[in-house]
Amino acid sequence: MQYETLPDGGRIPVLGLGTWQMGGGGSADYSRDDEMVSIIEQAIEMGYTHIDTAEGYGKTHCEELVGSAMKAFPRGDLFITTKVSPDHLYYDDVHTAINGSLKRLGTDYVDLYLIHWPNDRIPQEETFRALNELAADGRVRRVGVSNYSVAQMQEAMELCKAPIATNQVRYNLLDRTPMQNGVLEFCRRNGIPLTAYTPIKGGVLDDPTVQKIAQNRGCTPSQVAIYWLIQQPGVITIPMSQNLKHLRDNINALKLDLSDEEIRRLDAIQS
Ligand SMILES: NC(=O)c1ccc[n+]([C@@H]2O[C@H](COP(=O)([O-])OP(=O)(O)OC[C@H]3O[C@@H](n4cnc5c(N)ncnc54)[C@H](OP(=O)(O)O)[C@@H]3O)[C@@H](O)[C@H]2O)c1
Repeated sequence: MQYETLPDGGRIPVLGLGTWQMGGGGSADYSRDDEMVSIIEQAIEMGYTHIDTAEGYGKTHCEELVGSAMKAFPRGDLFITTKVSPDHLYYDDVHTAINGSLKRLGTDYVDLYLIHWPNDRIPQEETFRALNELAADGRVRRVGVSNYSVAQMQEAMELCKAPIATNQVRYNLLDRTPMQNGVLEFCRRNGIPLTAYTPIKGGVLDDPTVQKIAQNRGCTPSQVAIYWLIQQPGVITIPMSQNLKHLRDNINALKLDLSDEEIRRLDAIQS
């Protein structure tokens, strides 16, 4: 595995396992629990030691599945990220949310705790008062944000006693929003790794340039899409798959070595 350095000097694996839709989407789905737990366990065995989940996934059920899979591995070998939902950002609600997440995950700390989406109706002071306490008592090793603009990040950085560890945003070959709105540049300037979500979905694998490079290299389009992200300084990504072959393909993107010319062609893809 390769790593990016976090602002506190720790490190985060550049490739993590996304889990949205495992155990349901907007509601819980218990119908494939054994299969989902087995997939997460096999992913960890393959080398996906960084897992990205959220209390909102499957209305909390996803965290239960991740927790079941984690039992088979030493806790210290894993990097677990979860997220507090935007409706739970009042002080007391943050405490209730983390306690629920830790219980479902079967652990007494998470490596990274993210505000899943900003919520303009709840003052960030309120949220960070709680998050600073969680970081101080060790239930949360690091605090980060998700779907934040530059201005929202600046406010968060003023309120958070520890450095903001990441901003998790949608970023892929066909969606360059973090380049256009300044978030990527801001993260780089502040030594904050940007976590790119949805690296694959949304037509990326069908792009003719991606397909051509994959064909020439004898690799898969998903590997090209993932490699394009993680070869960028300060960018990590968290593809989701429930398919063992796809999981293996995706992690093997770490072994790819595209030329500068190939990267330039990918950079030039128009969304
Ligand atoms: N913070 C946020 O607001 C936010 C928002 C969205 C996502 N996320 C996080 O980011 C993770 C990734 O994003 P995502 O799940 O939206 O999208 P994604 O990882 O870009 O795409 C997932 C889809 O791609 C397919 N796939 C994966 N690998 C493949 C491969 N090698 N070949 C062909 N198809 C492949 C999967 O199907 P198979 O299962 O069949 O492989 C699945 O349908 C999420 O799971 C979640 O953890 C965070």
